Amino acid sequence: MDVVILPDPAAVGSRAAHLIAQRAAADPEMVLGIATGSSPLGTYRELALLRAQGKATLDRLRCFALDEYVGLPDGHPARYAVVVADEVTAPLGLDPANVHVPDGSAADVHRACLDYEQALTAAGGVDLQILGIGTNGHIGFNEPISSLASRTRIKALSAQTRRDNARFFSSDDAVPTHCITQGLGTILDAQEILLMAQGPSKADAVAAAIEGPVTSMCPASVLQFHPRVTVLLDEDAASRLTLTDYYRFVADAEPLLVGENR
Ligand code: GLP
Repeated sequence: MDVVILPDPAAVGSRAAHLIAQRAAADPEMVLGIATGSSPLGTYRELALLRAQGKATLDRLRCFALDEYVGLPDGHPARYAVVVADEVTAPLGLDPANVHVPDGSAADVHRACLDYEQALTAAGGVDLQILGIGTNGHIGFNEPISSLASRTRIKALSAQTRRDNARFFSSDDAVPTHCITQGLGTILDAQEILLMAQGPSKADAVAAAIEGPVTSMCPASVLQFHPRVTVLLDEDAASRLTLTDYYRFVADAEPLLVGENR
């Protein structure tokens, strides 16, 4: 795992966008796994800027979102399909036919989960997966005690996640109770993972995920099993880590380590 501590959220967004642009230059049709929530918004904006400046070619990317709420009506502004269309597909100039989000309004949600896994497999799997992290350590919507081997499925949201996400809804009660999320096993199948976190509210979850034991109580800790993970943090999100000096030393030595399993 590479842990990179950057001065502020803007630097996290910029570093992430440059990494994605670099991977897209090497493989213009790569499969990019996209996350919603606030954490990657700066990255998407920076990527749109790189594209506008002719420094990133993104139009042939194929994208799969991590998750979606169950039961929100078509066009609801908090629906991840809407957020992805507005924050990712349009600004990055992607072909909407290449952007996939789990179908949270399917009549048969279980079928929709299986179909999503099949679509991922048919696309050849995710090349680079973007992740945020919940204050309770969730990735996607894999709440604590999710199976570390889980696949795409319907999941009940925890009270903490519903509180954290209430800012996107008219009231706490308006937050859906269920979602579809790629499983932890699905996420681990990605070739490369880029997790980003900003702000003090993420500091405990980040420390548990990176330096704690692998446990389903902190679902993001499963990333310790993945050989190619980069974690981009601002100073606040990194504030509860203990090996900070080591991470800074490794980041300075980075050119020596390119291509290694981390
Ligand atoms: C949300 C999403 C996750 C996201 C996480 C953190 O509920 N389902 O994909 O990474 O929780 O959200 P935020 O980036 O808004 O803090």
